[in-house]
Amino acid sequence: MRIIVTGGAGFIGSHIAEAYCAAGHEVIVLDSLWAHGGGRRDNVPAGASFIHLDIRDQGLERIFREFSPEVVSHHAAQHSVAISARDPRLDADVNVLGLINVLDTAVKAGVRKVVFASSGATFGEPERLPITEATPQLPESPYAITKMIAEHYLRFYKAQHGLDFTSLRYGNVYGPRQDPSGEAGVIAIFIGRFLAEQGVKIFWDGEQTRDYVYAGDIAALNVIALDRGSGKCYGIGTNTKTSVNKIYRTLVEVTGFAAPMEYLPKRAGDVRDAQIDSALAKKELGWEPKTTLLEGMKATVAYFRVGLPE
Ligand SMILES: NC(=O)c1ccc[n+]([C@@H]2O[C@H](COP(=O)([O-])OP(=O)(O)OC[C@H]3O[C@@H](n4cnc5c(N)ncnc54)[C@H](O)[C@@H]3O)[C@@H](O)[C@H]2O)c1
Repeated sequence: MRIIVTGGAGFIGSHIAEAYCAAGHEVIVLDSLWAHGGGRRDNVPAGASFIHLDIRDQGLERIFREFSPEVVSHHAAQHSVAISARDPRLDADVNVLGLINVLDTAVKAGVRKVVFASSGATFGEPERLPITEATPQLPESPYAITKMIAEHYLRFYKAQHGLDFTSLRYGNVYGPRQDPSGEAGVIAIFIGRFLAEQGVKIFWDGEQTRDYVYAGDIAALNVIALDRGSGKCYGIGTNTKTSVNKIYRTLVEVTGFAAPMEYLPKRAGDVRDAQIDSALAKKELGWEPKTTLLEGMKATVAYFRVGLPE
C-alpha cells in the first residue's frame, strides 16, 4: 500500500519507514528536518522517497493528492518536554495545528487511516502502576497535553469524517539513530558519553525508572497497526521498570568501560516511576516486545560505535 510517514527522517519514524519498505509498501517520508529534532536526511531508508516539508504547510495537499496514500503514519512532532514548557505556543502549533493540517488533508485525499505516535507521558505520574488503557490521563507538560489532545482530534475525525486511526502510547523508545545530543533519552546520551570515554551525570538517586522499548519492536508494531486496532488507543511498553542505575550497569557490561559517574539533585518535574502494560496490544494486535534490554543496548551501542552523527 502507499504510506506517508511524517517525521520519517527522525529516530522512530525512520525505523517505521524502513519496516514499511521491507514489507513491500510504497513510502514517502515527509519531514521538515527541524533544527531541534532528531531528523536527519541520512536516516531516510533507501527505498523511501523524501519530501522536505513542514506538516503545517499547505503544500501538503498537492503531495497527498498526487500520491494518494492509504495510510499516514504521523510521527512528526515537537518532541521535547523541555521545549514545550519553554514555548507552549510552538508546541501546540506543531503538535495540534500541524496534526489538524495532516488530518484535514488526509480527509480531502481519501486516506483510510492515521497511525499516531502518542505517549505514555499523557498519564503524568499515575497513582497506580502499571499504566493501562484504564489509567486516567493527567498530562503534566504542554507536550503531554498536546499528545492527549491529539487523540481527541483523532476520535473526532473518525466520527465526523470516517478517517480511521490507531493511537500508540509509547513508553521510552530507544535504539539506533536516536539523537544523543540535547535532551535525548538517557540511553542515547549515556552511550554517547561511554563511547567517548567520558563521565555521566545521574540525577536524583538513579533509582527512578522508565519503561524502555526498543525501536525495532515499535517498527514491527506500526506494520501491524496498518490493518488492526481500528479507532483504539494502546499502551506500548515492556511492563518493566528499568532504573537509570540499571542502564548504567548494563552499559558498563556492554562497552567494558566503567564511566565515571556523578549523582546530582533531582530535576524539577522528574517522574519517579513508569511502567506500561501492553496486554491489550498483545490481545488485540498480537504485538508484544521481543527485544530484551541487553539485546537492544548491544544493537544500539554497535550502531553508535560505527560513528556518532555530527
Ligand atoms: N522517543 C520516544 O521515546 C517517544 C516516546 C513517545 C512518543 N514519541 C513520539 O514519537 C514521534 C517520533 O519521536 P522521535 O523520538 O523519533 O523524535 P525525532 O525528533 O527524532 O523525530 C521527529 C521528526 O519530526 C520532524 N518534525 C518536527 N517538526 C516537524 C514539522 N513541523 N513538520 C515536519 N516534520 C517535523 C523532525 O524533523 C524529526 O525528524 C514523535 O511524535 C514523538 O512525540 C517518542
